[in-house]
Amino acid sequence: MDLSKLNQDISNVKPSVLRQFDHDISADPKIVKLTLGEPDFNVPDHIKQAAIKAIDNNESHYPYFWGVQELRDAASSYYHDKFGYNYTSDQIVVSVGATEGLAATFHTLFQPGDAVIIPTPAYPVYKSMSDVNHLQALMIDTRANGCVLTPEQVQQAIDEHPELNIRGVVITDPSNPTGAVYTEEQLHALVPVLRDNEIWVISDEIYGELTYGVKHYTLSKWLSDQTIVINGLSKSHAMTGWRLGFVFGPSGVIDLIAKCHQYQVTAATSIVQYAAIEAMTNGEEDAEAMRVIYEKRCNYLRTALGKLGLDIVKPQGAFYVFVSLPDAWKDDSMAFAKKLAKKQHVGVIPGAPFGDDHAIRISYAASDESIHAAVAGLKAVLEDIGAVPVE
Ligand SMILES: Cc1ncc(COP(=O)(O)O)c(C=O)c1O
Repeated sequence: MDLSKLNQDISNVKPSVLRQFDHDISADPKIVKLTLGEPDFNVPDHIKQAAIKAIDNNESHYPYFWGVQELRDAASSYYHDKFGYNYTSDQIVVSVGATEGLAATFHTLFQPGDAVIIPTPAYPVYKSMSDVNHLQALMIDTRANGCVLTPEQVQQAIDEHPELNIRGVVITDPSNPTGAVYTEEQLHALVPVLRDNEIWVISDEIYGELTYGVKHYTLSKWLSDQTIVINGLSKSHAMTGWRLGFVFGPSGVIDLIAKCHQYQVTAATSIVQYAAIEAMTNGEEDAEAMRVIYEKRCNYLRTALGKLGLDIVKPQGAFYVFVSLPDAWKDDSMAFAKKLAKKQHVGVIPGAPFGDDHAIRISYAASDESIHAAVAGLKAVLEDIGAVPVE
């Protein structure tokens, strides 16, 4: 059969470099991996018990496509109490992880040819979703401003690209890959330019519970009528494999996102939804124990990488540090990551897929032992080229 006659949007979209690189280095039995955003904690026990109970109760039927009502009620108050979201249960769709929520949102909000602002360094999935939906991804480099998008940058993009129909912006807060967190003032400053230009906000807040010494804010507080919030249990409750996410949005558009979600997946898994009710009613403290441990690791890495003379974006959330590489590896983050894996058996993700080929991303959703080994490996590779400062 002729593959060139298949959907070329799918053929043209690049497979995930993150997952491919992680897969490739996994062949080394000695590899210490700080690659994927995969919490190294187990699902809290009370949530596991709720899942077992759901199986015993034969909760095995198609759930309502928007999600189980009790879960959407519980999510509405959970996120209202945590972060001040103002979405009622009929403005919430339960998705198959945040990813499916993002996919349904991209598919619903935009028409082919529309442009979407993606502040970089960015989680690569947004660009892929733009590509498969025939959107123009307008990548805006935010490194000069602490990896936070400014209203001036949005205005500049509008002024410099009159040919583009800029219809959306993605805000990832806290950020993957940098760990940057927007202050309340930084978010609020974006409101006028986004409102005046009727730009939809896709606010990916999947790491909202994981902030260190700072509070998480949501743009939906001021722009709820044009913000779609993406959240879920993958990171806050260490439930990546259970695939449970939420999409919050204003009436009208959320009904369309629900319809799109239904045609793609029918509904999120029934048993997981019942377990999620438990997470949303009795699990508001679950993330805290993990957050405290992540914060310690983050502080350790900041100090250790500083001693190696490496520049990092100040991480205030999520579980990543984004590390600038010495000039010897300028524009070849893949070569550096491969060398680190080959010579020192340490796996990190090259910065290129996030939009910065002069950096690597280290995930500290890994044991202390692995993190110490990674620092030692980095030091050895840097010593190789004489790039470690004298202590
Ligand atoms: C910023 C961001 N959004 C979304 C996701 C996907 O979350 P989920 O596993 O719930 O699909 C990830 C996963 O790493 C992420 O880093």
